[in-house]
Amino acid sequence: MSSIPSAKGIDSTLALLRNPYEFIPDTCRDLEGDLFETRILFQKTICMTGAAAAEVFYSEDGLVRAGSMPKRIQRTLLGEKGIQGLDGEAHRHRKRMFMSLMASERIEALENTTRDLLDRYARDWQAAEKVVLYDEVREILTRAACAWSGVPLPEAEVETRTAQMTALFQDAGAVGWKHWGARLARHRAERWTAGIIERLRDGSLQTGQESAAHVVATWRDLNGELLTSKVAAVELLNVVRPIVAVSAFIAQAAHALHRHPEWRQKLKDDEGQLEPFVQEVRRLYPFFPAVAARVKSDFEWRGYRFSKGYRVLLDLYGTNTDARSWDAPQEFRPERFHDREVTPYDFIPQGGGDQHRNHRCPGEWIAISQMKAFCSFFVNAIDYEVPDQDLDLETEELPPMPKSRFIMRNVRRRQ
Ligand code: HEM
Repeated sequence: MSSIPSAKGIDSTLALLRNPYEFIPDTCRDLEGDLFETRILFQKTICMTGAAAAEVFYSEDGLVRAGSMPKRIQRTLLGEKGIQGLDGEAHRHRKRMFMSLMASERIEALENTTRDLLDRYARDWQAAEKVVLYDEVREILTRAACAWSGVPLPEAEVETRTAQMTALFQDAGAVGWKHWGARLARHRAERWTAGIIERLRDGSLQTGQESAAHVVATWRDLNGELLTSKVAAVELLNVVRPIVAVSAFIAQAAHALHRHPEWRQKLKDDEGQLEPFVQEVRRLYPFFPAVAARVKSDFEWRGYRFSKGYRVLLDLYGTNTDARSWDAPQEFRPERFHDREVTPYDFIPQGGGDQHRNHRCPGEWIAISQMKAFCSFFVNAIDYEVPDQDLDLETEELPPMPKSRFIMRNVRRRQ
């Protein structure tokens, strides 16, 4: 058995923080392989990239999620004791709860809610001197996510809840005061959703049976017990927060439309082009750099030993832009999706494998439908100007947003 190649230096935490999307693929390329060993946050870690690595990451029984996430990510982005840290039957059972929310008519209902909100917001955009798109979309999606999930959102709370949801996904990986802000946001947001769960359970609040809040409040775990209100609060946020996070993909899609204006006409002429366009945005624009697991029992892959206790990081962005799977991987070419079937392992912006059995994101269809709805609105329903601004992606942020947050001017409804 060979030993896994090692990265330079004793600990790679800083190198990863400095270069979250390139560190794993670049190091793999330097070492001429799919994996290497290092320490991250002082822990022995195996970093892997590419479709073959994704396949072993999602199919190897020796890999588990319990104890794989750094505490700082649990205390901000994910919360504690939610689905992300479950394994085996407990995970599959909880996953059924999330998958039960993803029927196509429910995804369409969310899309319709967003379209109505877009109509309303666009009226104000016409009168505004400028529109900071990312901020507007975050607010629209907070309203849509709450309405769809059966979470009451009084008008006076829209701004606060939007800021809290944003802090959870945008400042989770930050250091210093932003990180502490995200922890405070998690604390307040969980108190909020726990209150909703408790009110649904004691009957003082009612919501549709199909709504996420109702499903989570009444879900029974494998032992037949209701989730504790703390865990239910985390799981309800596992629906609302990521719907708001789709705003990042939407700002990135607006950026892509601006940088590749020939696609405006193509999307206008043919609705069928919307899907390849948003898939290419999800492939090429960085979002979450990697996902983590832990080796529960020793196993071997390609002659390398994965020893018990190691953390394993699978590179998402590098896999989506791996030249072994994708021609001209850094070029924005939506047409590549016309005749290319993706596999569960080579296109993994929201994780890989199978949604039911693995930890793959259950919200991919929501992300795609929301992105399509917004792109269709940008090309068919409004005209706008994009004034001079700094559209470079802010690489110090996760996910990297256009520095200006994408400003539009002179928005006009078409009709
Ligand atoms: C899991 C990304 C939208 C709910 C994940 C994972 C990633 C991801 C990378 C982890 C996969 C893994 O651990 O193997 C994203 C991105 C989104 C998005 C980039 C778009 C902005 C959504 C939406 C929802 C959602 C809209 C729900 C409405 C979840 C849940 C999990 C998850 C519950 C945990 C699944 C599990 O552990 O089995 N997502 N997601 N996500 N996502 Fe998403």
